[in-house]
Amino acid sequence: MDKNNELHKKRSKSYEGGGAERLQRQHQQGKLSARERIAVLMDESSFHEIGGFVEHRATAFGLDKQKIPGDGVVSGYGTIHGRLVYVFSQDFTVLGGSLSETHAAKICRIMDMALKNGAPLIGLNDSGGARIQEGVVSLAGYADIFYRNTRASGVIPQLSVIMGPCAGGAVYSPALTDFVFMVEDTSYMFVTGPNVVKTVTHEEVSSEDLGGAKTHAEKSGVNHFTSGNDVECLKNVRDLMSYLPQNAEEEAPYPSTYSFNAKKEAAIAEILPDNSSIPYDIRKVIDCVIDDDSFREVHKDFATNIVVGFARIEGRTIGVVANQPASLAGVLDIDSSRKGARFVRFCDSFNIPLLVFEDVPGFLPGTDQEWRGIITHGAKLLYAFSEATVPRITVITRKAYGGAFDVMNSKSIGSDLNFAWPSAEIAVMGAKGAAEIIFKREIANSDDPQKKWLEKEAEYAELFANPYRAAERGIVDEVIFPSETRGRVISGFKMLENKNESLPRKKHGNIPL
Ligand code: HXC
Repeated sequence: MDKNNELHKKRSKSYEGGGAERLQRQHQQGKLSARERIAVLMDESSFHEIGGFVEHRATAFGLDKQKIPGDGVVSGYGTIHGRLVYVFSQDFTVLGGSLSETHAAKICRIMDMALKNGAPLIGLNDSGGARIQEGVVSLAGYADIFYRNTRASGVIPQLSVIMGPCAGGAVYSPALTDFVFMVEDTSYMFVTGPNVVKTVTHEEVSSEDLGGAKTHAEKSGVNHFTSGNDVECLKNVRDLMSYLPQNAEEEAPYPSTYSFNAKKEAAIAEILPDNSSIPYDIRKVIDCVIDDDSFREVHKDFATNIVVGFARIEGRTIGVVANQPASLAGVLDIDSSRKGARFVRFCDSFNIPLLVFEDVPGFLPGTDQEWRGIITHGAKLLYAFSEATVPRITVITRKAYGGAFDVMNSKSIGSDLNFAWPSAEIAVMGAKGAAEIIFKREIANSDDPQKKWLEKEAEYAELFANPYRAAERGIVDEVIFPSETRGRVISGFKMLENKNESLPRKKHGNIPL
């Protein structure tokens, strides 16, 4: 009995973490504790802890008197929607959730198990970074994690949830994972904090402005999903998990029920404005093609000229990539190319078919883009589509101009099926610019250059601002009515269900980074 009591005592000591006072402080900041977070994230009573009694071995700076079983991280496995996942949750009440040698070893242990057993890894981060008193061993601990993150990339889904500070090298593990979730007002990420920034660059900036959820969602693109509080965030993680497979060898879960409001098949025809210069929201088109309420937008506030996210078609997970005419006319630039490429590569790694909606006037011109390397960054999207072996379907709703036409999952770079709506305009460039270049002399020598230009513009538009030249050449497979889109996409993905394509044998490609 005494032995049982000892275990009870040790367990409660481990569960107490840094004690009631620190826990209260955590709650006052609107944050849940490490264990409360796990309880919200996982299926009820499904979590099993591993390493609850692990303690650090450091002695310097009085650390030998500050030993808390578990050492600031709760780790183990359990289920989400009945499927196995591995999780670690840093406990800020224990030495600020700082990463010691043993804390890192606990994380590595479950990372190794996740990889070996082919199940996703979810990290709940709330930490002051490397445990300062430990020095280099904690730095090595981070490196052990980064190494495993990289080795596991493309093998199992890895999700990072930032629920408190995440500073210094601690940001690199999340950056190596597939998706980053952040919580408004309580989480932030930066390589160096506001004080260092002030010393080095003399800029005064708050933690929130430097690396809060909004900053990383809109400016840097580090943050894929923003939530209002811990509970909402963890529920969003659960929701995303329902779209993802367990590992690269498996298919995404396939819910047996889905709904689709048939009225949307007719409504889709009303979305595009008559005038092709007027913007519309591509999300309305997406919504009319996929199962009801199934779109989960990724990177919603970053590079809004491209829309990416997960959806379902007759219950099956697909990845959607779409130009967004409602933002910068849907032009491709550096950030939208990076955003699209990263998403395409995730889907391809994890057997998620790709559906592309195309309405793109071209690449964004200008010195800013050229000098910052639009050539290299645009090539990322081209590369990502070109190497993707999952089933791929493109629907051209309106503009498909220039190099951007090639990039957006064209047939020549391996798309399996390409459809165009009657409103599609597929050409090297817009009619106005084209007329100016190819009829330059004729326009200049004319009595009324403006009239001539308009005439030539109309001539070019008549010839190319339609899908039929491309259809005649088989560059698009079929011109379809908008109302036929869902049906064609469903039958297309069914037809491609057993697609089996592999890349030429190689160690790995050299994506233009
Ligand atoms: C040890 C730490 C710690 C750390 C916080 N604590 N960070 N202990 N190592 N890195 C402890 C504090 O001493 C305190 O202990 C408790 O955690 C809570 O910290 P507070 O400062 O009271 O909390 P708060 O005011 O909320 O501020 C949180 C914070 C701040 C912003 C994270 O603690 C902070 O700036 N910490 C240091 C961040 C940092 O520079 N880390 C190293 C990054 S370099 P008590 O006992 O009072 O509760 C790095 C290199 C990795 O990580 C490189 C890998 C390649």
